[in-house]
Amino acid sequence: MPNSRRQTALTIIVLAGLAISPLAISHYNDKEGPQSYRQSWFALVAANFGPMVSMVKGEMPWQEMQMAGYADQLAALTTLDVMRGFPDGSDKGTTRAKPEIWQNKPDFQNKMDALTTAVNALKTVADQGTDRKAIAAQVAATGKACKACHDEYKSKNYLY
Ligand code: HEC
Repeated sequence: MPNSRRQTALTIIVLAGLAISPLAISHYNDKEGPQSYRQSWFALVAANFGPMVSMVKGEMPWQEMQMAGYADQLAALTTLDVMRGFPDGSDKGTTRAKPEIWQNKPDFQNKMDALTTAVNALKTVADQGTDRKAIAAQVAATGKACKACHDEYKSKNYLY
């Protein structure tokens, strides 16, 4: 397969594996501050990344300005301290965060850093605007960073 077709096939495979529901609803519960904080952050991340995936998949018209705008918002979100939402003892309550997060904090942090790196690269290509293949590839790479963490540290259903 030529390289670009392989790239496209890879993109589709990665994106198909991403279960991003536009209806994912976060909650705010003042008895569960950290849980609410992190879930709200992930909801914002998904609200910006979801449309980018839809554009790459052709489910939404590809608008360069919008693509760059979502990438900028996503990059801005990664400057927030999301680890504030994962203090010790917050593995309970209304959450899909697996207890392994607190057993493997450095690995979890690495996966968070990998997301930041991927998102910054995405912002760089999306801001340039024109190279759709490069943008699609970086959307896929970012999706892989989400999936790498979810596979290990996020359960499908609420745990408690
Ligand atoms: C370093 C780990 C990690 C990375 C990277 C990550 N996630 Fe998550 N994500 C989680 C964990 C853990 C939860 C569960 C949080 C909870 O329920 O308390 C979660 C929850 C979510 C939720 C549900 C939020 C809610 O409403 O409760 C969405 C949506 C989501 N992530 C999307 C994404 C997307 C999109 C990306 C990539 C752009 C991403 N995540 C990257 C770990 C990660």
